This record gives sequence, C-alpha cells and structure tokens, in this order.
Amino acid sequence: MREMPPEYRQSGSPLLTRLHGAVVHHYPEGEDEHAADGALEALAARVGAAGSKPYIIHFGPEHPPFGALGYVDATAELLRQGQDADLKIDAIVLPSGSASTHLGVLAGLALLGADIPVYGICIRRDAKSRGERIALRLEKLHALLDGMVTINRSRVLLDDAYLGPGYGKTTPEMFEAVSAGAALETLLLDPIYSGKCFAGLMGLVRCGAFAADANLVFPHTGGAPALFGYTSLFEHALEQQTRSEIAAKGLRSAKTSRDKQPRGLPPGMASYDSQVRRFLNAEKRTRIQLNINRLCMR
Ligand SMILES: Cc1ncc(COP(=O)(O)O)c(C=O)c1O
Repeated sequence: MREMPPEYRQSGSPLLTRLHGAVVHHYPEGEDEHAADGALEALAARVGAAGSKPYIIHFGPEHPPFGALGYVDATAELLRQGQDADLKIDAIVLPSGSASTHLGVLAGLALLGADIPVYGICIRRDAKSRGERIALRLEKLHALLDGMVTINRSRVLLDDAYLGPGYGKTTPEMFEAVSAGAALETLLLDPIYSGKCFAGLMGLVRCGAFAADANLVFPHTGGAPALFGYTSLFEHALEQQTRSEIAAKGLRSAKTSRDKQPRGLPPGMASYDSQVRRFLNAEKRTRIQLNINRLCMR
C-alpha cells in the first residue's frame, strides 16, 4: 500500500467505501491473518456491546469459506447456460487469491459431475506457499457442503507465473492484458485480480495449453473501480507503450504515431493468438457471462 500512488487511497474501493458511509478501521500491514482476525473479533465485540449486530468475514483459511457458496451456485448457472447455448466448455480460467472463487467453482462442477479443468491464476501468493491453505479450505468447504462433495487436490490447478512481485503489484503482462481487454472488447479488467488472470489466460493460450478450437470461460469477477487507483501507473505504461511503438516503427514523434494508430491490438500483440481473439469475439460470450457479484450476494 505504501508504495502505491496517492490516487490509490483516493479512488477505487477506498472512495466507494467512503461514499457508502462506512467507517473504516485500519489494521497494520502484513500477512498475519490470525492477528487480523483477532482484531476483527475485538472490534466486533466492541460494536456488539454498543448495540449493533456485527457480521465478521474472517481472513484465515481455518474459517468456513462462505464466499465459495456463491460460486457453487454460479457454476450451476454457467453449466446451464452452456447447455442452452449448445456450447461445450473446455476450460475455465479464474483468479485465485483466497481460493474461495476457485474452490467454489470446482465444488459446483463436482456436484454436477462435470470434470472441466479449472485454471487458477495466482494473484496473491505463489503456488507452493498456497498448498496448506488450499488443503485447509478444501476441508472447510467439504464440511460446509455437508460432505456432499469431495474435491481431489489434483483438480486444483494453480499457475503463479503471472503473479509478478506480489499482490496488487503491476506486471507488464497485466498492463498488456488490461489494454487488450479494453481496446479489443471494451472489457474492463482490474489490475489486481481479473487483469492478472486475463494475462494468465493469454499466456496459457500462447504456450499452447488449449486446443486451437477450445472454448474457454473467463468469469469476470469484477473489481474494475480499482483500475482508477492505478491511473499514474497506467499512464506510465501507456507512455512506454507509445515509445516502443515509435521505436518499432522508426517514427519520430509520439503524437504522429498515436494519431495514426488505428485502435486495436496493443504492441507486442501482433502475433496475438487467434484463440484469444475467438474468445474475445465469441458471440456467445455475453450470453454465458455471469454476474457473479450478484450471485454471491443472493
Ligand atoms: C475483483 C476480485 N475478483 C476476485 C476476488 C476473490 O478472489 P478469491 O475468491 O480467490 O479470494 C476478489 C476479492 O477481493 C476481487 O476483488
């Protein structure tokens, strides 16, 4: 947070939180989920004693992953929509942070007997350090679903190649993915979750992880307001992009280059794989797109 530009605190989620009139209590930075949960409980006790009804959403993996339930439901809807649209889904690519989204989708597939591979693109921790957490979450989710579904650990596919220096930290692949989504399809991605996840999808496609005619589902998990917390970082990236376009084309001025550029593929994407284009341009994409945030709030 400290390294983030000032607009990070003044826009995106911090601004929305203030607009909604929420009182924000800060907890010192760090990854100590247990201490953070302890602080939450102490705060909830104070608020409760004052007559309010606190609801705690814990951070630690030893608590039931209630958020995953929304995705169990969403996956049933996804499969139904796929069937209605006569679309065979070959793989799902989603962001994997706490893994509630990831495991919820896997649980939904398991419940319905579908073995579609689900690629979780790591956005918070590397794949190795997530092992124990994932195991614990799997166990808690199993209990939450009354033992109805067991997800084999081998079904949890994690790819941490797009994490970069860490949670919320930018990567060239993320900048490229966010630009591609916006320029090609007015698809607004956020730099923390969906942007890195889309970078993962593009990377997987480029390295031939899927058959050329595979139908990929990319659940957009929201978060676009966070984009505006990264304005200056994007401006810098776009400026660099323009410079490399100029260098590549041997043109003299940024203005000339930009003005003459047709809107479309960002640089470096000339060899952009037809599969991602297929994904971006698929007519059925909007039909199958889910409003996952709405489903989660049900
Ligand atoms: C945009 C976005 N996508 C996804 C998630 C959730 O990811 P996970 O379920 O892996 O924690 C979040 C959580 O904050 C989010 O803000």
